[in-house]
Formats: sequence, C-alpha cells, structure tokens
Amino acid sequence: MDETKRNSLRHEVSTPYSLVALSHLLLLLLSPSKTKAAKSAKISLPGCPDSCGGVAIPYPFGIGLDCSMSEAFNVTCDATLNGKPTPYMTVRGLQILNISIPSGQARVNNLISYQCCNITTMKVEAFNKFVILEGTPYRFNHEKNKFVVIGCDIAATVFFWSGEDRVSEEAAGCISYCGRLEYLINGSCSGLGCCETSLPKGINGINVQFDESYNSWLYYFNHCGYAFLTEVDNEFEFDTRYITTDELTGKKRPVLLDWTVGNTTCDVARTNQSSFACKSKNSNCSSIAPGYLCNCIDGYEGNPYLEEGCQDIDECANQNSCSNRGNCHNTQGGYYCSCPFGWRHTRNNSRQCEFNVVPLAIGTCAAIVALSFLGISIYAILERRDLSKIKEKYFQQHGGWILLEKIKSNQEFGFTIFTKQQIEQATNNFDSANIIGHGGQGTIYKGTLRDHIAAIKKCNIVDENKKKEFGKEMLILSQINHKNIVRLLGCCLEVEVPMLVYEFIPNGTLFHRIHNKKQGSCISLATRLIIAQESAEALAYLHFSTSPPIFHGDVKSANILLDQNCTAKVSDFGASILAPTDEAQFVTFVQGTCGYLDPEYVQSHQLTDKSDVYSFGVVLLELLTRKPAIDFDAPEEERSLSSRFLCAMEVNKMHDLLDNEIKCEDDMEVIMKIAELAKECLNMKGEERPTMKEVAEELDRIRKLKRHPWGVEYNPEEIETLLDEGSHNIESEYSRYFNIDKEAEESIAVGR
Ligand SMILES: *[C@@H]1O[C@H](CO)[C@@H](O)[C@H](O)[C@H]1NC(C)=O
Ligand SMILES: *[C@@H]1O[C@H](CO)[C@@H](O)[C@H](O)[C@H]1NC(C)=O
Ligand SMILES: *[C@@H]1O[C@H](CO)[C@@H](O)[C@H](O)[C@H]1NC(C)=O
Ligand SMILES: *[C@@H]1O[C@H](CO)[C@@H](O)[C@H](O)[C@H]1NC(C)=O
Ligand SMILES: *[C@@H]1O[C@H](CO)[C@@H](O)[C@H](O)[C@H]1NC(C)=O
Ligand SMILES: *[C@@H]1O[C@H](CO)[C@@H](O)[C@H](O)[C@H]1NC(C)=O
Ligand SMILES: *[C@@H]1O[C@H](CO)[C@@H](O)[C@H](O)[C@H]1NC(C)=O
Ligand SMILES: *[C@@H]1O[C@H](CO)[C@@H](O)[C@H](O)[C@H]1NC(C)=O
Repeated sequence: MDETKRNSLRHEVSTPYSLVALSHLLLLLLSPSKTKAAKSAKISLPGCPDSCGGVAIPYPFGIGLDCSMSEAFNVTCDATLNGKPTPYMTVRGLQILNISIPSGQARVNNLISYQCCNITTMKVEAFNKFVILEGTPYRFNHEKNKFVVIGCDIAATVFFWSGEDRVSEEAAGCISYCGRLEYLINGSCSGLGCCETSLPKGINGINVQFDESYNSWLYYFNHCGYAFLTEVDNEFEFDTRYITTDELTGKKRPVLLDWTVGNTTCDVARTNQSSFACKSKNSNCSSIAPGYLCNCIDGYEGNPYLEEGCQDIDECANQNSCSNRGNCHNTQGGYYCSCPFGWRHTRNNSRQCEFNVVPLAIGTCAAIVALSFLGISIYAILERRDLSKIKEKYFQQHGGWILLEKIKSNQEFGFTIFTKQQIEQATNNFDSANIIGHGGQGTIYKGTLRDHIAAIKKCNIVDENKKKEFGKEMLILSQINHKNIVRLLGCCLEVEVPMLVYEFIPNGTLFHRIHNKKQGSCISLATRLIIAQESAEALAYLHFSTSPPIFHGDVKSANILLDQNCTAKVSDFGASILAPTDEAQFVTFVQGTCGYLDPEYVQSHQLTDKSDVYSFGVVLLELLTRKPAIDFDAPEEERSLSSRFLCAMEVNKMHDLLDNEIKCEDDMEVIMKIAELAKECLNMKGEERPTMKEVAEELDRIRKLKRHPWGVEYNPEEIETLLDEGSHNIESEYSRYFNIDKEAEESIAVGR
C-alpha cells in the first residue's frame, strides 16, 4: 500500500458553528488551559526491547523469545558487525534499516551481486545474492524498487521464484554498454555503463545471473560488473568510478519489502479473535494478499497490533490544523476549530474562519459578544482571584446562560441582529444630520429599520470599559420586555463596539419636560403622578420580576423617556448590574449622577435596590418642585434638591419649594402624600427606605385618591398640547436623550 497516501489520510470532523462550538469556546474561556501531554505509547510487547542500533523494532517484529508475533518476525540484534548492534531478520538474514507499521513495509539492506575479473589471475570472481521470500510474510515491493545493472557490455537478469515448482523464471533484466570511458555520464543510467528496469508484480525471490555471452573484459578501464535491486526513492546515482574501480564490491543497497500478518483475509482472521492481530480497539483491518494489515483508524496513531497501541493524535500540536485565526480543540479521534469573536467558519470548510460579514445566526453573534464581554470581565476578576469556580459563577451572575437559553429558543426573543449594511442604510452612513443626541456612552442616531423608526446608539471611542457597558446594557435589556422600559430591538455586532438599536421614543426625556422652562409647558399633577407611578413600576419590575434582579444604578429624570402618550420609559442601562448572589465577592465601582446618588452606595460601593429607591426619591422631588436635582447656581447649602427638601420638611416649609403650577391645583393632600413618600425614599439608611414595589403601590393609591373626585386620569386636551409641542422639535428634544444638561448635572464615576 502506498505509504504517502496512507499518511495523508486525516480525520475530518464536521463542526457545526452553532452553540455546540460556542459552548466549547466557553469551556475554553472558563477552564484553565490544560497542556495535554500525549502518553508515549509503547511500540513493542512489555519487557521486549523496542529498538536495536537506533532502528525501532515495533511489534509484530520483536527481539528475543516471545517478543515477535511469529518466527518470521523474529529479529536478531547482532553486535558482532563493526561492534555496532545491527538488527537482522532471523528468517533470511537481511539487515533491517527500518520498519513501517502503517504501510506494512520494511527497508532492508541487500548485498550487491557482482562479477569481477581478477587482473592477476585473469579469473572471474562472482558473487550472487540469492534471496527467496517464498514461505515468509515478505515480498519485494514492485513499485518502489528497480533492478540496476552496472558495467561494460554486461547483461544481467533477475529471476522470479515460483515456489511450488521450485524453479525460477526470468522476471526482468537489462544490458549495459560502454563504448568509451568519455561517453559515460555521471548520474545517467540509460544504457551506457548503467541500465535499469522496473520489476513485475509479485516478485518473491531474486536470483541474479550475468549473461556470459555478453560479457567481455576487453575494456582496459573496466573489470567488474554489478547487478542489484535498489529502492527508487533511496537515491542511487551512477558514478563513472563504479566502472573504473571495484568500489561497489561487497556493498549493500536498500530494498523495500512489503509484509503482512497472518495468511488469510481480514474476515477470516476476525473469526478467531485470540489470533486476530489487530488488537487495538481503535484499529481497522485491511486485507492485502497473502495476509492482512492492521492500521489505526483516522485520528489515531501508534501500533495497532498492541492493545493500547492506537493513541489519539493531538492535531492541535500542528499549528496549521486550523487556518485563519481558528482556535484548535483536540478531541478523541479528531479535532475541531472554533472561530474568534466576530469570525465564523467559512461555508465549506469548518477548519477555516472568515470575518463575519453576514451573521447567519442570531445566536452565534450575540453569544460571542456576550462571551467576549464575559471573557474581559473574567480576565479582570482573575487578576485578583484565580479560582476557576468564581468564573463560572460570574458568568451565571451576568445572565450569560440566560441569554444563551433565550437565543436557543429565539422565536420568543424579539431581538434582531442587524447587519452593518442595514445600519448604514438606516442612518444614511451615519450622517450627522441623523444625530439626535450625544449620550454619555456614544452618539445616538435616528434611523428607519424595517419600517420602524429606531434610535441607534453607537459608541465613539473604543475602550474596554465602553465595550463592557455596551455588552452589559445589551445583556440586561435583551432580557426585559416591559411597557415602561425602553425596548432594545436588536444590535449590530459587526463592528468593534456593538451598536444597540432601541425603539424610538419621540417625546424626549422627563428631565427636559420638567426643566425646560423656555417652552413654558405645563404638566398637570395627574400626568406627573402617572409618570412617577409608571417609572416606579418599571423599577419594581427590574427589582422583583427579573431573575436575577437588576439594579438600574442611574435612575434620574434624564433617563426616563416619554413617548407620544406621555408613557414613561426607563432607559440607559449602562450602569446597571445584575444582583450579585454572593455580595462579598462582588466589587463594583460607583457610577451614577450627582444629585441622585445614594449616599450609602457612595460609601459602601455596593449598589443595592435601595440605591435605586433613593434616586427615585429625587425624581419625585423634581416632579413636585420642578427644580433640578443639583442647582450649581444656588448657594452651596441649597445646591442639593434632596437636602433642601429634607430641611424644608423638617421646618414644615415644603410649600415654598413646590412648583407653582401644581400648587394652584389645590391638591395638597395628594402632594403631601407624595412628599412623604419622597422623604421615605430619601432616608439615609437604605434598609429603612421602602422597596420599589411598595413605592409603586403607594403611588398607585395616591393616584386613585387623586382620581376619585373627578374620575379622569388627565385632561385629554393637555395631552394634545403636549403632542403638538413634541412634534415641533423632536430633534432638539432628542439632543437631550441621554445627554445631561451640563450646567445642571454632572455625571461622575468614582473609582475604587
Ligand atoms: C527468535 O530467535 C532467537 C534466536 O535468534 C530465539 O532464541 C527465539 O526463540 C526466537 N523467537 C521466536 C519467537 O521464534
Ligand atoms: C527510515 O529511516 C530513515 C532514517 O534512517 C527515516 O528518515 C525514515 O523516516 C524511516 N522510515 C520509516 C518508515 O520509518
Ligand atoms: C586476484 O587473485 C589473487 C590470487 O587468488 C588474489 O590474491 C587477489 O587479491 C585477487 N585480486 C582481486 C582484486 O580480487
Ligand atoms: C563523476 O564523478 C566523480 C566523483 O564522484 C568524478 O571523479 C568523475 O570524474 C566524474 N565523471 C565525469 C564523467 O564527470
Ligand atoms: C497459515 O498459517 C498457519 C500458521 O500461522 C499455517 O498453519 C497454515 O498452514 C498457513 N496456511 C497457508 C495456506 O499458508
Ligand atoms: C484461535 O487461535 C488460537 C491461537 O492462535 C488457537 O489456539 C485456537 O485454536 C484458534 N481457535 C480456532 C477456533 O481456530
Ligand atoms: C475499516 O476499513 C474498511 C475497509 O478497509 C472500511 O470500509 C471501514 O470504513 C473502516 N472502518 C473504520 C472505522 O475506519
Ligand atoms: C469552497 O467553495 C467555493 C465555491 O463553492 C470554492 O470556490 C472554494 O474553492 C471552496 N473552498 C474549499 C476550501 O473547498
């Protein structure tokens, strides 16, 4: 069998680029990298030498008693020649150069036959290397050997042994002429000084004979003729010295032999398992007359004739196993390649990755981002702790599995992965005319995607923190479907930082609505109550109805958007966290907005649901007073709205702080109830604040109280005016979408 062909066979594993591969990628991220040391497999039977004089002697060959499979494979390790141990086949005394198990071949060194004229005695001295392989498991390989004759006017033939009749038949031969010495060319074996011929199939013996009738010793420069078999690949080059000297006399040439085990086909051999030679469970048998050969199946290598002989090949040791940025993963009997973040397998080659131009599966894409985000976070944690268990926990805490689960059943998961092209079309190639805001984290563009107007958030500066915030926001929002929380429609992941696509909320932020006095808009107490209650419900939902709970972390009027019906939509989840299950483990850094920050959170660095309650208390104050949370123009002691309010409550002067507009509405009972609620929310001790659920329920009660006398929630005419104002100037409204009026507020991030 052709050795190169056999060796070129490699196991192909088709790897779906789906979650299976992703979960492997995940395992890779989560598990400490193991360097898998391949067990060095024994090639000979236990207790038997596995080499002789530097030549490996694998079973079925063996040196010594009970070390070989049969007499025919018995090897003698003889040290008498040159003092160097040299392996010989016991059966025919041929010197072994090496043995190949996969191809069932052995290279032996065979003596050159010669015929020389002794100048002194004028007598012919001849030597014929007579080899008969009949009765042994060996055959001359007819493809890889050739017959060569060297000399002047000399003919030689090789004889084929026909066992039964014990006669030999001519099998091949050639004649070499000389002419003059000057005619001979080094390296050319085409009839002048040297001739060669290929062998017929099935040569089982050689018996070289020189044809006396041709032979003449007339050439003064030549007195020897040679004939031998030699391996084609094992370079033999004719040299004119071979004609003029007796250099080749007594030399050997390598010859390739084929061998098989047993003397039956595989099917017959298999019937007796105790004598069946293919012992390894990862081996396969192939019938090759006169017997059969065993081989390790694809993906394994070693000695199939031994029980533990075939070992898994670590394909990943070869750096070319995965091309173009693929990560190699070894498996039993094969391997697969995973692609890095933002890449995928090419259509017809799972060993090759390409940049992911058109995401084929929602899951692949989103999960890769989620994973790489987690990878980054994990890396950060690892710098402090290197317990692999924490990594797993951390992953779960951040909802990675939840996202994976959702993606698997993506029918209910109203989340779309947009292509870069779609986004570019929608925003007219990020035309600045479509910019509707500059948020803390990026630029917000307005665009039409799939017939819906959407707000597209794109990060300007690429840094790890921004990426993390984006990833976090995506992860959190993708899990939520609540009418008072801005909906994340999808994302685009083909860019370095993912772009997030939100539903478009046309009426700007609550902050703008309250504080933009220029427009002089009037908001009724009823509308304010609705907005407050809806926002509270959204937050209560985040705290109590999601698993794990989500803490918003940056509740403020600028993060409450209003749609055309004045429905509140809580937005901006860049600062949010999923509630840690083991608090001691979790270190966050304080992030939020001045004037809304829970003082306890600033001290403890521990974001809790009560931090959101505090911030919400400030929003309630804004609704009541129509004053900014922090007023930098005011004297120092009056800057903070919450402290001003708490002081005013102390001395019963709250009335002075109230927005004139609602004061005239003669709803003091309702207003006082809201103020009381705000006061509770602003309690310095987080524990003593009500939960968001309680706040939402209380606001609901207050709303009912307010509604009772009139039985209407709000004045429809008022909504009309609101709508009119809104549609005038959507763009300017949106310029404050995420942006905070710089004079009024300041976003801070206090590092640990
Ligand atoms: C192999 O040959 C050695 C002598 O060279 C002999 O002692 C031994 O018994 C032989 N083993 C087998 C299995 O025939
Ligand atoms: C045989 O030995 C030569 C070196 O002596 C080595 O290069 C070659 O790979 C070996 N072949 C096999 C089949 O073991
Ligand atoms: C030729 O024959 C003589 C006598 O037998 C011997 O001594 C000599 O070594 C031979 N020469 C060669 C080159 O074999
Ligand atoms: C062939 O090569 C040998 C050296 O290997 C050199 O001595 C000889 O002269 C060369 N013959 C010709 C014809 O080039
Ligand atoms: C096959 O080998 C067994 C022993 O290995 C021997 O007894 C039998 O005669 C052989 N058969 C032939 C057809 O060579
Ligand atoms: C199977 O092979 C073993 C060992 O070669 C031999 O002793 C036994 O007789 C064989 N059994 C059959 C059914 O041929
Ligand atoms: C074993 O070899 C046979 C033919 O030689 C082939 O049909 C079969 O698929 C191989 N089995 C394995 C597991 O490689
Ligand atoms: C993959 O398929 C394309 C067209 O179908 C072909 O041009 C390309 O050569 C293939 N690549 C490989 C590695 O098979």
